[in-house]
Amino acid sequence: MSTIPATQLTTAPQDTRRTLIEVRDLKVEFNIRGGVVKAVDGLTLDIKCGQTVGIIGESGCGKSVTARAILRMVPKPGKITGGQILYYRVPRQKKLAGSNEVEVIELTKLDPDGEVIRQIRGGEIAMIFQEPMSSLTPVYTAGTHIHEAVSLHRLLPLKTVGDQMVERITQYRKVTREEAREIAVQMLRRVGIPKPEQRVDSYPHQLSGGQRQRVMIAIALSTEPDMLIADEPTTALDVSIEAQILDIMRELQQTANMAIMFITHNLGVIASMADEIVVMYMGKQVERAKVVDLFYNPKHPYTKALLQSVPKLGPKTGQRLASIEGMVPDPLHLPTGCVFHPRCPAFIAGKCDRHVPNWVQVGDNHWVRCLLYEE
Ligand SMILES: Nc1ncnc2c1ncn2[C@@H]1O[C@H](COP(=O)(O)OP(=O)(O)OP(=O)(O)O)[C@@H](O)[C@H]1O
Ligand SMILES: [Mg+2]
Repeated sequence: MSTIPATQLTTAPQDTRRTLIEVRDLKVEFNIRGGVVKAVDGLTLDIKCGQTVGIIGESGCGKSVTARAILRMVPKPGKITGGQILYYRVPRQKKLAGSNEVEVIELTKLDPDGEVIRQIRGGEIAMIFQEPMSSLTPVYTAGTHIHEAVSLHRLLPLKTVGDQMVERITQYRKVTREEAREIAVQMLRRVGIPKPEQRVDSYPHQLSGGQRQRVMIAIALSTEPDMLIADEPTTALDVSIEAQILDIMRELQQTANMAIMFITHNLGVIASMADEIVVMYMGKQVERAKVVDLFYNPKHPYTKALLQSVPKLGPKTGQRLASIEGMVPDPLHLPTGCVFHPRCPAFIAGKCDRHVPNWVQVGDNHWVRCLLYEE
């Protein structure tokens, strides 16, 4: 029996809250028949190690495209047309050896099929996709998927005794086939797959929707990523499994200082997971605040409308985003001025339909894009 620590390899001094990802004025466009869709239009945010940033907003506002842009996986015909995404990286080998020397990689400049992004993708930054089926390969078993991920991305210290490292070890080796299988079984067990020793050999079509989603989560977490991008990670799961998955994420966040970008329609889940929340509307961020400020002191009329149908912030989960009044505009024919003005209860004629609001600070770490808050 080999001994693989369940949560391991976090010997590097935890420079707990340094910036990990910085998105500056990001623009992503889809050039389609009929015109150009500005799926992401000037997004600026940063995510720190160990922090969870939630992203909310109605369907089509650009959440998934933002997530995919970070990993350079924007689907065709989408293109990053502006801005930067910076990744403050401590290469895994160095981190394990106790160094926290940061190198800055401009993800937006990388070849999306190149070596560097492939090292990062799935290993250092992992993603749980909104559609589990599309990210699983039909001819691979659950175990093979996890094996691929960990053999590419996970390293083990040369010497371990049980869960303890015997000394500071500066040399690491890749996991072996047997170890990868053991990690796969452990991960499947942790995400609540029954009989993991058998399920590890199941193909995606032999799994239920909820099991597939859990397999995908197991793959994403198996490499102990520095950042997890979770796009509606628990939608197909029942409440008890959802709670279990969220616990695993929190645990990894604590033990491995993992950052999380969490996209969901579930306000209960986001309230319990996130430190900060970004609200998006039609490709733009309209508000960003610490979770408590956003729920108790929302500024943007759009945020207020989103939150309105939720009676109060509490432990109740399953509180979905309300549908708010008015129609989401056609992305090819955006309104003038503030894009939210045709639906806005606080609309001021001659102002909101004429002027594009700026991103203004209204409090400690609290930002809003609305003319009501501009001088
Ligand atoms: N492959 C594509 N081709 C053309 N347009 C696309 C494509 N993918 C996304 N878009 C457009 O980009 C915009 C943002 O889409 P995105 O998938 O990011 O929305 P979302 O916020 O994730 O919505 P949901 O909550 O439904 O998942 C939408 O207007 C969408 O139509
Ligand atoms: Mg989406």
